[in-house]
Amino acid sequence: MFALGLMGSPRKKGNSAYLLSAFLKALEAKGAVTHTVVVAEKEVLPCIGCTYCEKHGRCFQQTDDMAKEMYGLFRRADIVVAATPMYFYSAPAQLKMVIDRTQTLWSRNYRLNLRDPRAGSRAGFMLSLGATKGKNLFEGINLTARYFFDAVSAEFTGWLGYRRIENPGDMEKQEGLAADIAAEVSKLDALFARKKMVFVGTDNTCTSRMAEAFAMAMAGDRVEAMSAGMSPAEKIDPEMEAAMAEKGVDMAFGRPRLMDDVLSEIKPGIVVTVGIVPDFTPVPGAQVVAWEIPNIEDRSPEGVRRLRDDIEARVAALIQG
Ligand SMILES: Cc1cc2nc3c(=O)[nH]c(=O)nc-3n(C[C@H](O)[C@H](O)[C@H](O)COP(=O)(O)O)c2cc1C
Repeated sequence: MFALGLMGSPRKKGNSAYLLSAFLKALEAKGAVTHTVVVAEKEVLPCIGCTYCEKHGRCFQQTDDMAKEMYGLFRRADIVVAATPMYFYSAPAQLKMVIDRTQTLWSRNYRLNLRDPRAGSRAGFMLSLGATKGKNLFEGINLTARYFFDAVSAEFTGWLGYRRIENPGDMEKQEGLAADIAAEVSKLDALFARKKMVFVGTDNTCTSRMAEAFAMAMAGDRVEAMSAGMSPAEKIDPEMEAAMAEKGVDMAFGRPRLMDDVLSEIKPGIVVTVGIVPDFTPVPGAQVVAWEIPNIEDRSPEGVRRLRDDIEARVAALIQG
């Protein structure tokens, strides 16, 4: 399970940083692997509302950290946790720029009808704090969170908000923080308890990726699937991406990953070898299922479609079994 933390304050050792790290530590204690992005350290250009993404499914800005790194992290994440101070009843500009740029993911879903395979299972949490004590302090940010989590295909699973938090160190003194976090994290018990499986191929560009995506799209509420390659390539197969798009499954922003790297994130009960996988070694504690796939090398559009449909049927049978 992979949790992405967004640290929204420009103050790097302040209250939001403390709150986020406490929350992520609680997720790690349950077995999640976490990664924190300090948004103020990233180069993120603002959305200019040009609607390019509504037609092309990607932002015209291709050189900043949003394009290079962050869309991929959102897609990889099983859990997204944002932590932010209140700045004028909203998020600081740096975090707001990231939020605005997720409009690209919104466009892929709502304009281009491409579904993120992890859409049915991703969880989102908003952690907020501010210096004042007004009743409505978190209304604005939670409304933003509702639409932000929708754009990144996450369910808005929970939020925490703390008033009268002003100077660095205030958050650490907050009474009941550990219990508050534990109550939020316990909402994920079913997610952590899912059946875990890894689909492994040679380069993790095509069939193993399709299997992961189908498993997540069909049964992400009860299955946690990942895919990997023994010798991962640089990029995913564009023919595969096109064939999956025909079925409304969005493969964009995925990158082939090394088996050992993936195994540091998941302890699978089942490992499926997709076709002949040289150098594969069994994973301790996991049942190995070997799929023999005929014509796996056929990369013509028709060939990839046949592979796609074959993989879809195999995944459906595996999940039912
Ligand atoms: C530009 C700016 C705007 C702020 N606006 C608000 C606000 O609208 N409401 C509030 O309660 N606190 C406001 N604050 C106070 C911060 O939310 C508070 O100091 C918080 O603890 C900072 O968190 P950090 O340590 O993670 O940076 C503002 C602070 C700054 C610098």
